[in-house]
Amino acid sequence: MEKLAIEGGNPVRPEKIYYGRQWIGEDDVEAVAEVLRSDFLTCGPKVAEFERSLEAYTGAKHAVAVSNGTAALHCACMAAGIGPGDEVITTPLTFAASANCALYCGARPVFADIDPETYNIDPESIRAKITERTKAVVAVDFTGQAVRLDAIREICREHGLTLIEDAAHSIGTKYKGQQVGSIADMTCFSFHPVKTITGGEGGAILTNDDDLNTKLVLAHTHGITHDEDLMEGAPHEGIWYYEQISLGYNYRLTDFQAALVCSQLGKIEQFASRRKEIVRRYEEAFRDLPEIILQKTIPESDTCRHLYIIRLDLEKLTCTRRQFFDAMSAENVQCQIHYVPVYWFPYYEHLGYEKGLCPNAEEVYKGILSIPLYPKMTDQDVEDVICAVKKVVANYRK
Ligand SMILES: Cc1ncc(COP(=O)(O)O)c(C=O)c1O
Repeated sequence: MEKLAIEGGNPVRPEKIYYGRQWIGEDDVEAVAEVLRSDFLTCGPKVAEFERSLEAYTGAKHAVAVSNGTAALHCACMAAGIGPGDEVITTPLTFAASANCALYCGARPVFADIDPETYNIDPESIRAKITERTKAVVAVDFTGQAVRLDAIREICREHGLTLIEDAAHSIGTKYKGQQVGSIADMTCFSFHPVKTITGGEGGAILTNDDDLNTKLVLAHTHGITHDEDLMEGAPHEGIWYYEQISLGYNYRLTDFQAALVCSQLGKIEQFASRRKEIVRRYEEAFRDLPEIILQKTIPESDTCRHLYIIRLDLEKLTCTRRQFFDAMSAENVQCQIHYVPVYWFPYYEHLGYEKGLCPNAEEVYKGILSIPLYPKMTDQDVEDVICAVKKVVANYRK
C-alpha cells in the first residue's frame, strides 16, 4: 500500500487543489472592463439587464439583484413581513446566513432536522416545529439538490407561511423540470466565487408576486421610491423628487458586478454540464467503497451540484474525520466541511440553543467532508482527487 503523505510518503499531486473556485474567461474580463469605461459604475443599465436575464433564465416574473446572498435573504425576510416575536424555520446544516436573516428582523430561527440521506430539511420535521408564531420557512437546497418543494409548499400553504428558498447552492437546478427560482414565494441566489456563477460578490431574489417584488425593491434601496404611485406625501415637486416610505438598506449590486455575473450566466449550461460530468465520475469511483456514504439523490431534482460531499462511515475506518481531512490536505487535496450545525456556534449558544436539537444533522456533520468540485477542474484534477480519497481510505481501512 502506498504510504500516506502525512506519514512521509509522496503526495498524490504536487500542487494544492481547493474545494471550489471561480472560472473567469477573457469574455468576463471584457464585460467588466466595458462597464468600467462607461458612465455608470452603479445604478446603471447593467443591473437591469442582469435582472431581466435572470427572469428569462429562471422563468420567474421578477428578479431583484442585490449585493450578496445574505442581503437577498434579509430582503426576503423583510418582504415577508417578519418581525419581533415571529419564528422562521430552517435547517441547521447550512451557512449561518440562512438562520441569521431571521435574527436581523428580530425573529427567532427554529431548526428543523434533516433527512439523514439527502441532508436536506425534512418536511415532516418542519411540520413538527410549526407554532402559532411561525411566519416563514427558509428551505436550503443543500449542495444544489432541490428540497422536497412540493411537500414543503403544501405545508406552507396549509399554515399560511411564506416559503423562502435559499438557493445559494442551486442556480441551474431544476425541480420536476422547472427551474429553481420560479417555484417558491421567493428564491435567493448567491454569486460568491465558489458558487456556480459569480459576480465577485452578489445575490438576487426572485419572485412571481408583484407585491413582494415592490417590497424587495424598497428593501434593497433604503426604502426609497421614485414611483409616484407609491408616494404618500407632498405632490410631486419635480423630477428630482423621491420619497422614503419604509426602512431599507443599501444592498445594491454594482454595474461592474452585474456585468460579470451576466456574462457568467451566459455560460451556466456549460458550467452545469461540467459539474454534472465530474459528479458522475465521482459517483462511479466511490460507489463501491463501503467506507464512503454518498449523498442520496431524489429523482425530482435535476441537480447542478455546487458541493460534492462524501460521508465517512467512521465505524469502518481506524481514523477520525479530522485525521482523514488532514491526510487529504497532505495529499494536496484541500477539503472543507459544510457545515458546522448553525446552533452549535457560540452566538447561538448564548441565545439559548442547545446541542442535541437536531440529531440527524449532528450525526451527519460528524462524518462529512466536501471534496473539490468546480467546472475548471481538469480530468487529471478529478482523477487526483479520486486517487487521494482511495489512498486515504485504503490506509485507514479497518
Ligand atoms: C446556503 C447559503 N445561504 C446563504 C449564503 C450567503 O451568501 P453570500 O455569501 O453571497 O452572502 C451562502 C453563502 O455561502 C450559503 O451557502
